[in-house]
Amino acid sequence: MDIPSEDPTSLPTPRRVRLLNREDRLYHVILAQQFDRDIIDHLCRIAEMTRIIGDTRAGARFLNSILSHKRAMLYFIQPSTRTFLSFAAACQILGMPYNDVRDPSTSSEVKGETEDDTVRVLSQYFDIIIMRHPSEGFAETMANKLNGIRRCIPLLNGGSGKDQHPTQALLDIYTLYRCFAPSSVERIRQDPERNLFAGKTIAFVGDLKRGRTVRSLAYLLARYPGVRLLFVAPDELQIGDDILEHLTRNEIEHELKSDLPKTIGECNAVYMTRLQDEHDKDGESRSIDLSRFSLTPELQDQLRPDLAILHPLPRRAELDTCYDSDPRAKYWDQMRNGMWVRAALIAHVFNVDGQILDHYYSHFNY
Ligand code: CP
Repeated sequence: MDIPSEDPTSLPTPRRVRLLNREDRLYHVILAQQFDRDIIDHLCRIAEMTRIIGDTRAGARFLNSILSHKRAMLYFIQPSTRTFLSFAAACQILGMPYNDVRDPSTSSEVKGETEDDTVRVLSQYFDIIIMRHPSEGFAETMANKLNGIRRCIPLLNGGSGKDQHPTQALLDIYTLYRCFAPSSVERIRQDPERNLFAGKTIAFVGDLKRGRTVRSLAYLLARYPGVRLLFVAPDELQIGDDILEHLTRNEIEHELKSDLPKTIGECNAVYMTRLQDEHDKDGESRSIDLSRFSLTPELQDQLRPDLAILHPLPRRAELDTCYDSDPRAKYWDQMRNGMWVRAALIAHVFNVDGQILDHYYSHFNY
């Protein structure tokens, strides 16, 4: 195992990815750059099969058996509702018992145990760690530390500071798959040539500078030539240059915009985000006028009839509740999709996704 002596987050991306993957399989899941198009397509197919299998009693029993010999730790020391609960539900679907640490003041960290040591302790009791942490780079550093110990276990990133939220991006892209390929048969069909995103325009709106979900989803969408990305935000909250450079390098058409009402008509999907003012030092972003970056009731009649409205949630005023019962609102579906695609990801990491595939083809492929 290649153990870097320097900070792993400062290494070139291909080497970072090599340190996290195991041959052609995801192992530690930390960065959206780890997902290529084949793995995104594969995980969306496995998620789709898992939800179909899980719909029957016998199927749910089968799923429930495949990881019943493993245990998970959900180490979430930054607040979360959806990511925590959907990972917990994903573990339950696969029959894997889990424990959680959500408040480090209840652990021996209050007696001076370092976070490094805590993660190492967890690796002795559990078979996978799923982590949300307020610091960028912490999950990646811990994954690389785990690589250097005898009992190395996989670590999944459930949100790291302002930087990345790769499994949210995975559920977002799975949601878009379901919007752009409405039939289950089409979603499950294996076709390496298929590109559901070619010719589609997707707008990201709101606080793009500090929105980790947007950053991760932009990396995934950059795998699909022909997609067009619009970043609609006030100057102070516009997307980082690193993402724009990545898109340029990958020849993905993109544009910065400063007005949602003038942009929304050209979009196939819109990805709304809230102001991430928890990252403010002194509430400085609260004075920014976000009225041109909100889906208001007045816009409802200007939207395309097939627009997909996404939001990682929680929301504030940027997404009016008048959209909640609109069929174009996909933000409720995102949550449930997250449970299935996270189950698919965990199955892949433990190399049991083939069992789901075999079960689907032997029981459901009429
Ligand atoms: N989308 C998301 O990450 O939600 P939570 O913060 O509730 O997990």
